[in-house]
Amino acid sequence: MTSTPVDPTTTAAWGELYGHYQDFRGDLRGWFADDPARAERMSHTAGDLLVDLSKNLATDGTTELLVRLAREVRLPERIEAMFTGEHINVTEDRAVLHTALRRAPGTQPPLVVDGQDVDADVAAELDKLSAFADDVRSGAWTGVTGKPVRTVVNIGIGGSDLGPVMVYEALAPYLKDGLEVRFVSNIDPTDIAQKTAGLDPETTLFIVASKTFGTLETLTNARLARAWLWEQLQAGGAIEDDADAKQAAVRAHFVAVSTALDKVAAFGIDPANAFGFWDWVGGRYSVDSAIGTSLAIAFGPDRFRELLAGFRAMDEHFRTAPLERNVPALMGLLNVWYVNFLGAHTHAVLPYAQQLHRFPAYLQQLTMESNGKSVRWDGSPVSTQTGEVFWGEPGTNGQHAFYQLIHQGTRLIPADFIAVANPAYPLSDAEGDGKAVAAGADVHELFLANFFAQTKALAFGKTADEVRAEGTDEALVSARTFSGNRPTTSIMAPALTPSVLGQLVALYEHITFVQGVVWGIDSFDQWGVELGKKLALEVAPAVSGDDAALGAQDSSTQALIRYYREHRA
Ligand code: F6P
Repeated sequence: MTSTPVDPTTTAAWGELYGHYQDFRGDLRGWFADDPARAERMSHTAGDLLVDLSKNLATDGTTELLVRLAREVRLPERIEAMFTGEHINVTEDRAVLHTALRRAPGTQPPLVVDGQDVDADVAAELDKLSAFADDVRSGAWTGVTGKPVRTVVNIGIGGSDLGPVMVYEALAPYLKDGLEVRFVSNIDPTDIAQKTAGLDPETTLFIVASKTFGTLETLTNARLARAWLWEQLQAGGAIEDDADAKQAAVRAHFVAVSTALDKVAAFGIDPANAFGFWDWVGGRYSVDSAIGTSLAIAFGPDRFRELLAGFRAMDEHFRTAPLERNVPALMGLLNVWYVNFLGAHTHAVLPYAQQLHRFPAYLQQLTMESNGKSVRWDGSPVSTQTGEVFWGEPGTNGQHAFYQLIHQGTRLIPADFIAVANPAYPLSDAEGDGKAVAAGADVHELFLANFFAQTKALAFGKTADEVRAEGTDEALVSARTFSGNRPTTSIMAPALTPSVLGQLVALYEHITFVQGVVWGIDSFDQWGVELGKKLALEVAPAVSGDDAALGAQDSSTQALIRYYREHRA
C-alpha cells in the first residue's frame, strides 16, 4: 500500500489531545478514590490474559481521544491491510503476514496473496518441521555414527536467535528429558567456543537459522561449527579425513532454516533438510515460523502448535475487538500518549516470571528495530517522536537494581508488569524466618506480593504526611516521600503455557504495529541495521593489515585499529 500516511499531528483528535494534555494532571489517588469502578472498567481480557490498564495516567477522556486518534489515522483499515496481505512493508514492497503463520488450519476461504496459497504453504512447512522434530525426539534421526541427537545448537542472530532463545527459556519446564538446546549468535568467537565446549559431536545437531542465509555472523559461526564437527569426529575416529565422509557428516549434523534455499545447498546442507519461510515474515516476527524448529524439537510439535494457537488467539482479538476494548490497540495508544504528550523516552517491561528473563531482550528487537524510524512509509520525515527505548529485567531482581529511578527519579517511565498465577515450580519455605515469612509460606505468593506492592507503590506513592506519621525525622521526610503517579500496566495469566506465551508475544507485536500506524512509519524494514552490516565488511581489511584501507578511515578509527594491531599478540 503506497497511500500517504495520515500525519497524526494534523488530526482533530491530536489537537484535542494536546488541549487535554495542557490541563492534564495525573492523580491516580484521586481517580481511584472517586471512582470505585475504575479498575474494573479499565481491565480487559484478551485470550487468557487479564490486562489492567487502570494504573495508567489516563482518564476516560484520554482513552476516548486516543481511540479517536486511532480511527483518524485509519488503524482499523491498516489492521485489515496487514491481515489480508497488502504490501504494507512499503520500502521492501512486501506483504507483512506473520499472522498467516498461525491461522487456524482449514480456515475458509484460504489466504491467497500475490498468487501464493499462503495457508497451504504454511501448513506444508509446519508439517515438514513437525515430522523432523518428531524424528529427532524419537531418535529416528541419527548422526553420522548412528547415535540419536542429545544437543541441538541453533546458530542465528537477531530474529533468528532472540525469539528461539526467549521461548526456550520461557518454556523450559516442557523440555524433553535428555535434550538440550544451545544458542550461538555472536561473532565473538567466545560464543561458539563456549557453546560447543564439552559437546559430543556424534550427538550434536546444528540448525543454521538465517532468513537471508547471508548474515556475516551466522555464516561465520556455521563454518566454525562445521570445522569443529569435522575435527571432532575425526579426532574420535568416527570419520576419515575425506570429502565424502565430511559431506555425509554435514548432511547428518546440519539442517537449515531460511528463505534462501539455494544458499543452503551451497553450504552443503541437504535441501531436503532445510525448512523454509517467506519474505513476508520479518526476522523479528519469525519465531513462530520454521525459525522455531529448535523449539519444536525441544518441546515437541504439539507444544509448538499450542504456541501458535496462542498467537492466533491474540490475532483474533486484535482483528475483531472494538478499539475501546482492544488490548493491543489501547496499550499502543497509551504508549503514544506517553511518548508524544507526556514525554516518556523509555518503556520498561518487568516480568515477574524468571522464565521470561529474555523477554525484554526479545522485545528490544521487536519494538526498536520496528519503530526506530525517522521517516514515514512514503519517505517524508516523521512529524513526532517515534520508538521509545524498551528495556527491563525480571522482578524481583530489578527491584534491587534500577527500580529506585522508576520510583523516585525525575523521568517518567511507563512499565508493564507481567505475572502468572501458577508457578512452574511450586515451592514452599518449610521453615520461614519466624517473622515476615511464615513457616510453609508459598514462595510464589511472596513473589507476587512484590508485583502487587510495586505497582501499588508506583501508582499511589507515599505522601510526606504518611512518612511523618511513621515517626520519620523531618530532615528525612522528603527523601522518603514517593510522588506516585508512575504509570504501570499489569498483565496476568493463569500459567506460562505455550499458548499464553504466544498470546504475550502477539500482544507486543500488535502494540508495536499500532504505534507504527499512528506515527505513519514502516515498522517492517530495518535499513539502519543493513548499513552496519555493510560498514563492518568495509572496515575489515583495515583491521587485518591492509594499510591502504586503514588510510581511508577517519583519524579516530585509524588510531583504534592501530591500537588493536599493536596489541594483538
Ligand atoms: O539485525 C538485522 C537483521 O536483519 C534482523 O532484522 C534479522 O533478524 C537479523 O539481521 C538476522 O538476519 P538473518 O535471519 O537473515 O540472518
